[in-house]
This record gives sequence, C-alpha cells and structure tokens, in this order.
Amino acid sequence: MSDESAHERHASLVFRPVTERDHARVVGAIPEWWQTPNSEALPLLLPRLFFQHFSDTSTIVEDGDGRLAAFLVGFRSQSQPEVGYVHFVGVRPDLRGAGLARSLYERFFAQVRALGCRRVDAITGPDNMRSQEFHRAMGFTIGGDTDVDGVLAYLDYDGLGEHRVTFTRVI
Ligand SMILES: CC(C)(COP(=O)(O)OP(=O)(O)OC[C@H]1O[C@@H](n2cnc3c(N)ncnc32)[C@H](O)[C@@H]1OP(=O)(O)O)[C@@H](O)C(=O)NCCC(=O)NCCS
Repeated sequence: MSDESAHERHASLVFRPVTERDHARVVGAIPEWWQTPNSEALPLLLPRLFFQHFSDTSTIVEDGDGRLAAFLVGFRSQSQPEVGYVHFVGVRPDLRGAGLARSLYERFFAQVRALGCRRVDAITGPDNMRSQEFHRAMGFTIGGDTDVDGVLAYLDYDGLGEHRVTFTRVI
C-alpha cells in the first residue's frame, strides 16, 4: 500500500475498548488473518472471558464502514502488577504496514503504564515470523534457548511440542 492510501485509511479508523459483543467477529477473523499452520485452532486461545474481564486494556479498531480493522487483547498481570501482557494482536491484511499495530501497542503501553506497569510481555510460535519481526521493530527483546528450525525458542514452553518465542520490553 502507498504511504498516502495507508495514511488516509488510518485517519478514518475508530479505536475503542472491546465489548462482549465483539467476541464472535474477532475470533471469526483470526484464521484468515493469521494464515499460520495452526490458525484454525487459534480462536480457542481467545475465549469470551477476555472480552468480559479485560475490556479496559483491550481495543477494537473499526474502519469507516464499521468493519473490523484490527484488535489487541491485553491485560495487567494480577501476579506481577508491574507487567502488562499482550495476549493477541491482529491487523486486517489490507491495512498492514501502516503503523496500526504500533498504534495499538502504544495505546496499550499508556493504559498499563497508568496502572503502574513498567514492562510488557508477549509470546508467539516459532513459525510466526511476522510477529517476531513486528516485536523486534517495536523494541522487544526476543527470548529462546533452543534452535527450532532456525529460530530461537523455548522448547515445550506451553506443553509437549508447543515451543514459544518470548518477547519483553520496558515501557
Ligand atoms: C504482526 C502484525 C500485527 C503487524 O501489524 P502492522 O499493522 O502491519 O504493523 P505496523 O505497521 O504497526 O508495524 C510496526 C513496525 O513493525 C514492523 N513490521 C510489522 N510487520 C512486519 C513484518 N512482517 N516484517 C518486518 N517488519 C514488520 C514495521 O516495519 C514497523 O516498523 P517501523 O515502525 O520501524 O517501520 C500483523 O502483521 C498481523 O496481524 N499479523 C497476523 C497476526 C499475528 O501474527 N499477530 C501477532 C501474534 S499474536
């Protein structure tokens, strides 16, 4: 997308907190937006409870026609109150590369900073290169201890065969 059209599209976007009513269309968008080998199973990682209990720190973006443009689901850690955690972030494929995910992260940083957080964490799968490149560009430190197909990841982090790359950043 050209810089001009990216800017125009960004200008018409509306950012607001998620509500429970947003759950169905967000999980409905995930397989098409992610396009990773496991993307059909991913919606199960984002149950309705996130939309019920973490709406203050989770954002929906709609375009000028009210269509879903992007979302971020995150929260402040209950066990580590100085930590904010981004659980899911997604941008509609035709709106990528325009700084939309960066805006969502900056909004989240401001929200959790106001709650006393000083660090933000997230994770992804070793096959999600887009997420790794995005988090690198956003200044996150990438963690892992084992080479998994050329990517440093923690083996069996989320269960047998569920390797993960970790991200952390001071805010
Ligand atoms: C990852 C994702 C959220 C990025 O959204 P985006 O709106 O295109 O990202 P932005 O335009 O805000 O990019 C912010 C920075 O990340 C960089 N970046 C984003 N995607 C990148 C990619 N695929 N490769 C390299 N760099 C990338 C941008 O160049 C930009 O850097 P800069 O500000 O220094 O120029 C989007 O590609 C997506 O929805 N992917 C599918 C879902 C997913 O994998 N989510 C993350 C795991 S939960």
